[in-house]
Amino acid sequence: EKGTYPHFMLKEIDEQPFVIRKIINEYQTNDNELKLDAAIRRAMKASDRIYIIAAGTSYHAGLVGKEFIEKLAAIPVEVHIASEFSYNMPLLSDNPLFVFISQSGETADSRAVLVKIKEMGHPALTITNVPGSTLSREADYTLNLYAGPEIAVASTKAYTAQIAVLAILAVDTAQAKGIELDFDPMQELAIVANAMEILTDQKETIEELTREYLATTRNAFFIGRSTDYHVCMEGSLKLKEISYIQAEGFAGGELKHGTIALIEEDTPVIALATQANVNYSIRSNVQEVVSRGANAMIISMKGLEQDDDALVLPHVHELLTPLVSVVPLQLLAYYAALHRECDVDKPRNLAKSVTVE
Ligand code: M6R
Repeated sequence: EKGTYPHFMLKEIDEQPFVIRKIINEYQTNDNELKLDAAIRRAMKASDRIYIIAAGTSYHAGLVGKEFIEKLAAIPVEVHIASEFSYNMPLLSDNPLFVFISQSGETADSRAVLVKIKEMGHPALTITNVPGSTLSREADYTLNLYAGPEIAVASTKAYTAQIAVLAILAVDTAQAKGIELDFDPMQELAIVANAMEILTDQKETIEELTREYLATTRNAFFIGRSTDYHVCMEGSLKLKEISYIQAEGFAGGELKHGTIALIEEDTPVIALATQANVNYSIRSNVQEVVSRGANAMIISMKGLEQDDDALVLPHVHELLTPLVSVVPLQLLAYYAALHRECDVDKPRNLAKSVTVE
C-alpha cells in the first residue's frame, strides 16, 4: 500500500536506504562474514567469463555489475541486452556462467536466452526480486534482491538492490579466489544507505532543480564518463518513461563525435561528476555545452565538488557511487512527470513486467 505517499514511485525511492540495510542483514552472518550459497561461490569461481543478460533498468544495473566483477573478482564480463543476444550470440568462452538480472523474474526476452543457454548445457544464476518466478525456477541458482514488492512501472529500488547484490557477489567471488580487498563491503554499503537517506531528505531542492531545468523542455541530455555514464543511461530512461521528455545518456567523450550538434539555447544537460579520474574531463564537456547555450547542471560528489555545482552527493566508496547518484535522477524524473501531470506509476504504453518477446 502507498500509505501517505501520493505515488508508489516516491515511496519506493524512499525505501531504498531500508532495502540496502535489509540486503546487508540478509547477506551477512553474525560474524560479519558474507553469506552466499556455497554453490554460487563455486560457480562464479569456476567461470572464465560471465555473461550478464537483462533488459531496461536491469541491463543498466548489469553494466555497473560488470565493473564490480571485473575490478574486484578479476573475471571478464560481457553485458547483453536480452532481446539482442540471440541475433548476435558472441563466441562463448570455455566455462561461461550466465547471470540473469530481472526484478520481476518474468521478462520474456531474458527467458528466451535462458531457455537457449540451458539447452546448450550452460549454468545460470538469476538475480531477482521474486523468488519462485520463472527465471528463478529455471536457473540453477538464485540470489534474492529483498527489495519488497515494486509496484511503480518505473524501477527504482530494484535497480539499487541489484547493484548492491552484484557488489556483494563480486566481493564474495574475490574472497573465494583469495583476492585481498582494501575495504569492508558491508560497511561501505551502510555508508551508502545513510547517503541515500540524506538525498531523499532533499526533495525540495531536487523539485526546485526540476523546475529550473526540466519544466518546459522537450528534450534533455545526461552526460557522464565511466560509471557515471552508466548511471546517466538509467537517469535518462527514468525521465523518458514517466515524463515523456526525450532524453539520452551520453558518454562525455562522445559528445564531440556528433551529439553536441543537438545542443541549442537552453537545452538541459545534466552532468554527473562522481569519479576523481574523470572529474576534469567531464567538467570540460560541461563547459563545451554551456558555451553553445546549454542549461547545464552538475551533480558531483563530496571531495570533488566545485562552487557552482547544483547538488553535491555525500561521499561514498568510488565503486558504489551509482547507488547514490541515481537517487537525484530518479527524483528529477518523478518531479518532471508530476509537473507534466503524467501518470507517474502507470506511464502510457508500458507494463510492469514484459512477458512477450
Ligand atoms: O523485471 P525486469 O527487471 O526483467 O524488467 C526489465 C525492464 O522491463 C524494466 O527494467 C523496465 O525497463 C523498467 N520499466 C524501467 O524502469
